[in-house]
Amino acid sequence: MTIRVVNHARRPAEIRSYTPARYVDPAYLELEWQRVWRTTWLLAGLEQDLREPGDFFVFDLGREQILVTRTSAGSTQGFYNVCQHRGNRLVTAERGHAENFRCAYHAWTYANDGALKGVPHRDRFPNDVPCAERSLRRVRTATWQGLVFVCLANDPPPLHEFLGPVVEHLAPYRFDQMIVVEDQTARVACNWKAVVDNFGELYHVDFLHPQHKRMVDCSNDTVHLFDNGHTGLAVPGATVNPRFPVPEAPTDIQSAQLESLGLNPADFTGRVLDVRRAVQERKRAIGRELGFDYSAFSDEQLSDVWQYNLFPNAILSFTPEHLWILRPRPHPSDPARCEFDKISLLRFADPAINAEARDIAGPGRQAATASGLLPEDYRRPERDVFDHDDIVAGRKTMTITIDQDIELLGGIQAGMTSRGFDSVWLSEDELRVAHFHNELDALIGG
Ligand code: FES
Repeated sequence: MTIRVVNHARRPAEIRSYTPARYVDPAYLELEWQRVWRTTWLLAGLEQDLREPGDFFVFDLGREQILVTRTSAGSTQGFYNVCQHRGNRLVTAERGHAENFRCAYHAWTYANDGALKGVPHRDRFPNDVPCAERSLRRVRTATWQGLVFVCLANDPPPLHEFLGPVVEHLAPYRFDQMIVVEDQTARVACNWKAVVDNFGELYHVDFLHPQHKRMVDCSNDTVHLFDNGHTGLAVPGATVNPRFPVPEAPTDIQSAQLESLGLNPADFTGRVLDVRRAVQERKRAIGRELGFDYSAFSDEQLSDVWQYNLFPNAILSFTPEHLWILRPRPHPSDPARCEFDKISLLRFADPAINAEARDIAGPGRQAATASGLLPEDYRRPERDVFDHDDIVAGRKTMTITIDQDIELLGGIQAGMTSRGFDSVWLSEDELRVAHFHNELDALIGG
């Protein structure tokens, strides 16, 4: 391999071909339900949506819905979102606050710890109602860095064991200290794995995203492979793509980064390759003045963009100041469709570090101002749900770059059904895609 790879996994880094059936065959989708979605830990939502006892959210996984609550006793608990009388969906709201959940059909009522508390006309059940047996069916939950995971298996390994070295790698980022500023879902016309594949390689960036090709150093990234199908990527940021001539003046992105740190882009004319180091040093020097504690981060982490893909379907793209959660969820029955979430979180200046920091144009402030949200005005944004066609027509956007990806993914799905295409053929630049599919093959079997 000529790319930089750190393989933490027991499985060797191996690039193999595979057929397109996994993207189009309903039988494969059925196997995924049995052997993937019901066996592995899944990123369900955010702990910040469960701040108070009684807060809840519903994680929609296509065929299953999981109700996750902060119980009155303060613990996080997951349940299948199904009434134990005759199987009605219990909660229809996406998020909210409730001491009790009352089924709309016959008013069976459950406490937020799942216990069945009320059954109208209970004396008319000839066998009575065994409340303990008929309480909500529990689902395992665990949290890490403010992210709530669920697992539908009865006896899964601990979440930290499933994530392995990822836990240590990402420890400085403290996603639990970031807050949601945007919440979007697109109904996309492709298999969920086509989305994971897309965010598993940078091979396409120079070609599909011309606005990025001079701005990121995709040829000097480091790929990490982990057990259980997780992968990681560190891309040098605040620099330029060395595949192209180095420009005389900083790029737009570099200039914005410099200005957000109080540096003058003009000072870097003729020395664009010095910008990355300058950003690192400046954040280190004035971090506390900006209201940020950068002490746990390495110099590279201060400038670079990381992306860690947690098997099967959670893609985390982040810097010290921001996190995108990108998450394709499967369709219940149609392998050619999925729902794709993009949840954006920001770290705001911490008044405990510098009470005056909000008057300083720091990186978090810059992004927060652009989003129109500042902590004192903060309202948890509602989820905006739209269709693939809304993006193609320009009515909705998930950023120019992701719009370009989504528009293209419809073509990928169409091509997968063609008689003229019988196998995927991967390069070493797509090693993370291969690692994901090797894990999938291990779970699904031949
Ligand atoms: Fe829920 Fe009857 S199905 S109360």
